[in-house]
Amino acid sequence: MTIISDDNNIKFNKKKNEDTTAEETSFDMSFETNIRPKTFNEYIGQSSLKSTLKISIEASKKRELPLDHILFYGPPGLGKTTLASVIANEMNADIKITSAPSLERPRDIIGLLMSLKAGDILFIDEIHRLNKISEEILYPAMEDFSLDMTTGKGQTLKSIRIPIPKFTLIGATTKAGALSGPLRDRFGIIHRLEFYTDEELKQVIQRTAKILEIQTDENGAMAIAKRSRGTPRIANRLVKRVRDYAIVKSDGIIDAKTADSALDILQIDKYGLDNTDRSLLNIIAKNYNGGPVGIETLATALGEDIKTIEDVYEPYLVQKGFLQRTPRGRKLTPFACKCFNLTDINFQQSLF
Ligand code: ADE
Repeated sequence: MTIISDDNNIKFNKKKNEDTTAEETSFDMSFETNIRPKTFNEYIGQSSLKSTLKISIEASKKRELPLDHILFYGPPGLGKTTLASVIANEMNADIKITSAPSLERPRDIIGLLMSLKAGDILFIDEIHRLNKISEEILYPAMEDFSLDMTTGKGQTLKSIRIPIPKFTLIGATTKAGALSGPLRDRFGIIHRLEFYTDEELKQVIQRTAKILEIQTDENGAMAIAKRSRGTPRIANRLVKRVRDYAIVKSDGIIDAKTADSALDILQIDKYGLDNTDRSLLNIIAKNYNGGPVGIETLATALGEDIKTIEDVYEPYLVQKGFLQRTPRGRKLTPFACKCFNLTDINFQQSLF
């Protein structure tokens, strides 16, 4: 499998048993590539999605036809790109990885589509940010594997159809609702990625720790898992921070006590919330009497942009039952008040 990416995270991977040059080895040994699962067996969590995908992949191989186009949506850090690479590997296909903001001009997307080979997978991250023209170029490419182009000028202007190889588009978005209807309808498989359970995150941490030769016991892995807000990307980041703490402050082994002390220093609480999460809840409590408060006002008060609040902070706060999105704005839940002891404000009347 070859991975070609326009970000610097992933460069490429080689098919098992292929000759490997020094340069390629250095890519393979990079941290991100190394800990990224490559097969469904290595990929932990998202079990119902994995079952669906395994069946579709097997059917596509048996029918000798490309896999249906796939749309993944859900909060950031849950492994959409990783899953696309796993699919490419399981299909024995090459994957090209890009994101919508880098497909600004029509020639960007046309060039990309024309560079594909039969069976290739094209991964477009943040696909909701594709502009209208690029989106319309994609429609016939997805539906009929062709590009509709025009040549000539004035009276000699004519449209032509150029066939392109049969490929699979995998789109990823944090905002399924922002995708246009016609684009969404062209995906055969649409699936939401769910937050991971603590048990699944524990397994992700144990797997990463093993690859990075970090010593951790089961309770240590679970202590990190509980504060990773359901997100493998965060779990993998925290395991490295806790490893550093363990090396400096103890014997380098991560047990529950070491993990808890390290995470306390990082100011990540027992719910996995960081300073920004807590500030967000506090602002609603103290400045707006528990809410509802509009997202624009909240963003200004917090000093964060609306997109970051909506995509990064809110999904987990909502999922954990701390925050409610209502038509009139964001509101704290009784559970949030209880957990954070937010009783000094006048919320009881206004909230419930
Ligand atoms: N690293 C990041 N996400 C992972 C996953 N879902 N399974 C295993 N390792 C991971």
